[in-house]
Amino acid sequence: MAAVIIDGKTVAEKIRARIKAEVAKLKSKPGLAAILVGENPASKVYVDIKRKTCDEVGIYSELYKLPDSTTEKELLQLIGKLNENKKIHAILVQMPLPKHISEEKILAAIALEKDVDGFSPENIGKLVSGKEASVPCTPKGVIRLLEEYKIEILGKNAVVIGRSNIVGKPVALMLLNRDATVTVCHSKTTDLAKHTRNADILVVAAGKPKLVTADMVKEGAVVIDVGINRVDGKLVGDVDFETVSRKAGYITPVPKGVGPMTVAMLIENTLDLFRKNPSRQLSTGPSRNSDLGVNQKTEN
Ligand code: GUN
Repeated sequence: MAAVIIDGKTVAEKIRARIKAEVAKLKSKPGLAAILVGENPASKVYVDIKRKTCDEVGIYSELYKLPDSTTEKELLQLIGKLNENKKIHAILVQMPLPKHISEEKILAAIALEKDVDGFSPENIGKLVSGKEASVPCTPKGVIRLLEEYKIEILGKNAVVIGRSNIVGKPVALMLLNRDATVTVCHSKTTDLAKHTRNADILVVAAGKPKLVTADMVKEGAVVIDVGINRVDGKLVGDVDFETVSRKAGYITPVPKGVGPMTVAMLIENTLDLFRKNPSRQLSTGPSRNSDLGVNQKTEN
């Protein structure tokens, strides 16, 4: 039987509409600062979408597009300023960073109360100990889709392909925190299909087009495709949608699956951080054009 298509686009639209209505009722606006260093084309697209979504829902945003030559010290200085900026409640540094900058140092420099991605050592520690606070946006989006479609996690065999700090590891921990039995597979896993065939819930975040084929999937499984790959000018996931959708019980498409959820969770996390830190809320609405003394800042 054909799988139920998990419609991330529609779920994300509903979340954006709810956040827009909630923000409209606030006396001052939540603020997000996004920092992009370098010329990674995919990252440029993602931060532009994040920025546009903030505008759509009424979240104040600042986008810093910095050249590849930016030093670690300069980036740390910018983060230091944003940590002190009362208009900004959430700071996002788009990953990956150029090789000469330590991601670890940068993530540790973001004020805990502004860590919208949940990548700080403290928030990762909370995730590991089962006391989730700010959690990474894509994993949060995956879990939210499962919840929206009333897919039980407790007691299920969940298999995650990919062990990145951004998706694979945190989504595995979130599934574990919800009482799944979790297996994490990666590039060195021998006999990947042996593991994936055992999955009730299969989350694929490998960055390899069509890595998962129908023979690797259990009949009726829930297949969540986090991959976004460009092949012959077309966006495709890590799952061979054509064949797997005939065998799975539920499946996310690419595009319009997990992708829009990442952005929806980002604005949800921004609003959460704003609410958790009332002392940082301004009594009047912030001006979008005020000078923060940072040359590379672009606002539109
Ligand atoms: N790069 C890919 N996904 C993400 C994300 O969710 N947050 C950040 N900061 N960088 C990313």
